[in-house]
Amino acid sequence: MLYLVYFALTPYYSKILYLYFLYIDMDESHYNTDLGLRDRVIGKRIYHYKKIKSTQQLAISFAETNINNEDGTVIVADEQDEGMGRRKKKWASPIGGLWMSLIIKPKIEFAKINMISVISAVSVCEAINDISQLKTNIKWPNDILINEKKLAGILIDTNTNNSKNEYIVVGIGINIDVDIPKINSSIASNNILPTKVTSIHNEIKVTNIDRFILMKQLLGKIEFYLSLLEQDKYHAKIIEIYKKLSNTLGKRIIVYHEGLKEYSGIVKDIDNSGGLILERDDKLLEILYSGEITIREQNDK
Ligand code: BTN
Repeated sequence: MLYLVYFALTPYYSKILYLYFLYIDMDESHYNTDLGLRDRVIGKRIYHYKKIKSTQQLAISFAETNINNEDGTVIVADEQDEGMGRRKKKWASPIGGLWMSLIIKPKIEFAKINMISVISAVSVCEAINDISQLKTNIKWPNDILINEKKLAGILIDTNTNNSKNEYIVVGIGINIDVDIPKINSSIASNNILPTKVTSIHNEIKVTNIDRFILMKQLLGKIEFYLSLLEQDKYHAKIIEIYKKLSNTLGKRIIVYHEGLKEYSGIVKDIDNSGGLILERDDKLLEILYSGEITIREQNDK
């Protein structure tokens, strides 16, 4: 008995116990989905669950416990009970979306780690465009919008050790054919800065977007851009693509901290690691690497 208590209290065993509770909470065990990416890194292993609390939570547990944590492992779920958004917001994840998390063990300099967020956003935009011809754009840092409504979101969790990245979990949620009014109401109730949401089907009025085709396209894009980063190639080109997709560059924005307005200013540029170069109203120059913003019209204070 004492042994059990001891094991339960050591960090490693408590993580295993946590993982066990995550598992027993799932509807059923996973399917190994094969998208024909076995010769690649990203998507070589795909664990597909029907219902799960959160693919992000499970991917982090896998990465932490050295179970199913090979570089490029993907966890995808048909629906999530406790989908997680940025800044501890809930992410409504009913059937009809692509809800996936990807474990990456990046072989890039620590200083370039923010580029994972940049390439993820670019990959999501390009994959959606390839499959549906929809021209999405990126609200800094990595919200994917169309007609000013949110179509997809990206959540990045990193684990660093001695300034070295052990793993990064990239969580991606894309609304393909979800019930928009339902999602809007759940967002309004848990969000200080509500954004309107939309879905691919809502924008193009077709009902035949295959989640797994979109996912395959997306994983291929991530693999492509990640390999450029790892070879230290075309960094400036990637930032150029990100800037072209940005809806934030040149705009007047308000920066929030914990839901409260902090200051406002004009976005002058995006630096070479995805940081926002902002000229504040008090003329101070500031570079933001994370944060929450809203975009305003030029003369709208
Ligand atoms: C955001 O707030 O914009 C990020 C949302 C990220 C949602 C995805 S859905 C798959 C993965 N699992 C989660 O619990 N969250 C991410």
